[in-house]
Amino acid sequence: MHLPDLCVAGNRQRVTVDHIALDQEYRPLFAGKKYFLRTYGCQMNVHDSEEIKYYLEALGFTATDTLEEADIVVLNTCAIRENAKDKVYGYLGRCKHLKYSKKNLIICLCGCLVQEPHEIEEFKTKHQYIDIIVGTHNLKELPELICQKAPEQAIEVYSNSDKVYENVKYARDSKISAWINIAYGCDKFCTYCIVPFTRGRERSRKMENILQEVQELKDSGYQEVTLLGQNVNAYGNDLALGYNFATLLEEVAKIGIPRIRFVTSHPWNFTDEMIDVIAKYDNIMPYVHLPIQSGSDNILKKMNRRYTIEEYKTLFNKIKSKVKNVAITTDIIVGFPNETDEDFNKTLDIVKYCEFDNAFTFIYSPRVGTAAARMPDKVSFETKQARLKKLNELVNSYSLKSNQKLLGKTVKVLVTGPSEKGSNKVCGYTDTMKLVNIVGSQDLIGQIVDVEITAAKSFSLDGKVSL
Ligand code: SAH
Ligand code: SF4
Ligand code: F3S
Repeated sequence: MHLPDLCVAGNRQRVTVDHIALDQEYRPLFAGKKYFLRTYGCQMNVHDSEEIKYYLEALGFTATDTLEEADIVVLNTCAIRENAKDKVYGYLGRCKHLKYSKKNLIICLCGCLVQEPHEIEEFKTKHQYIDIIVGTHNLKELPELICQKAPEQAIEVYSNSDKVYENVKYARDSKISAWINIAYGCDKFCTYCIVPFTRGRERSRKMENILQEVQELKDSGYQEVTLLGQNVNAYGNDLALGYNFATLLEEVAKIGIPRIRFVTSHPWNFTDEMIDVIAKYDNIMPYVHLPIQSGSDNILKKMNRRYTIEEYKTLFNKIKSKVKNVAITTDIIVGFPNETDEDFNKTLDIVKYCEFDNAFTFIYSPRVGTAAARMPDKVSFETKQARLKKLNELVNSYSLKSNQKLLGKTVKVLVTGPSEKGSNKVCGYTDTMKLVNIVGSQDLIGQIVDVEITAAKSFSLDGKVSL
């Protein structure tokens, strides 16, 4: 589908935002008022929400976890599957209800869902109580839209952008681990996926700006950075400045921040150079999220994934053999249009072959405007559900197996916060991204500690600090 450069919707004059003036000029307007922010979707959205938080706090709002206390509600939405969308609409119902008793409540929607033209139509016609709708390409306009709150619904959404904003400010959720955008958008157009439509073309940030951000985070005490892109392998291709993801990763590693991660790696175009850099530096974590999506070449082709199962296996084995103790996780979709039992069995086979450390599994969800949504599909929803159940059982057995391999071993864990499992516990992640609940004091938060693993479950480990 062609991506037009026109705006999807815009009903106000565009403004230039002077974010430096936010603090001084607008803060008094909203002092004492509260914001409620809810985030759906992937790490990109989680990081965008840190930008939204910065704007809201600069305007004078303070956070609340209680919807009823809010003066402004911001829903940062996701469109990846129908259930992500349903959750947003469900929450909107609560917001609408609240507005009956709280007339001045501002309701604001941003994120991927608002990038879809048919959704905009829905918001315009059936959800007029929503005050502000701002797209993924122009989040920077959010503070202006809040300050200039019009009596009518304000919609500012652009369907594409070639812009890469620099010097974006964030109110980061963590003082230990930080997200860093390295590239925006996606050009892969997997036939099932809405992301190229909601996030636009692939655009990389210049390497010097990323390195500066990493250096600043290191200087302010961060232990970990995660480099973010829909497909990190594509980093730099659009810039044609002579560097690529391997170059970037190596330069980031040299800065010396203790832990570096990156998501997501597309199996296509994952170069040997990248593997060599991951293997070479101790501070690049031995963890690769490598979505496979299906075990059937026939389905992979229909998905436009650009690799065969043989090619995936070759890459998988190369990473396993070159990167010591590496963990590899994946994403899998079941029930792609007309997926046969034979196709599905091939997915089970590849899971058995790879023994993934973890896998995120989904039932295919048709997205309006994507190529797969126009493909005929005779598979019943019940069959898809049964396939998912079978796949999950298999996947979980391998997660448990890989966790059990750590029993009795001592591993390094970056302690990120209190544990949900009790006040005498903290939690954190191994270098291979496994969650560990640790008996220990809250003073450990922010440190990388040696932990002896005492119990292994499918989704987490228990441990105690090794003396
Ligand atoms: N850019 C990343 C991830 C994008 S979305 C990548 O390419 O790996 C995260 C996952 O959601 C995808 O890997 C895919 O497994 C799943 N997904 C995307 N679109 C979907 C759809 N229409 N239905 C079901 N799952 C989907
Ligand atoms: Fe979607 Fe494919 Fe791009 Fe990932 S690589 S965001 S699955 S189009
Ligand atoms: Fe959802 Fe958009 Fe991420 S569709 S998964 S929030 S890129």
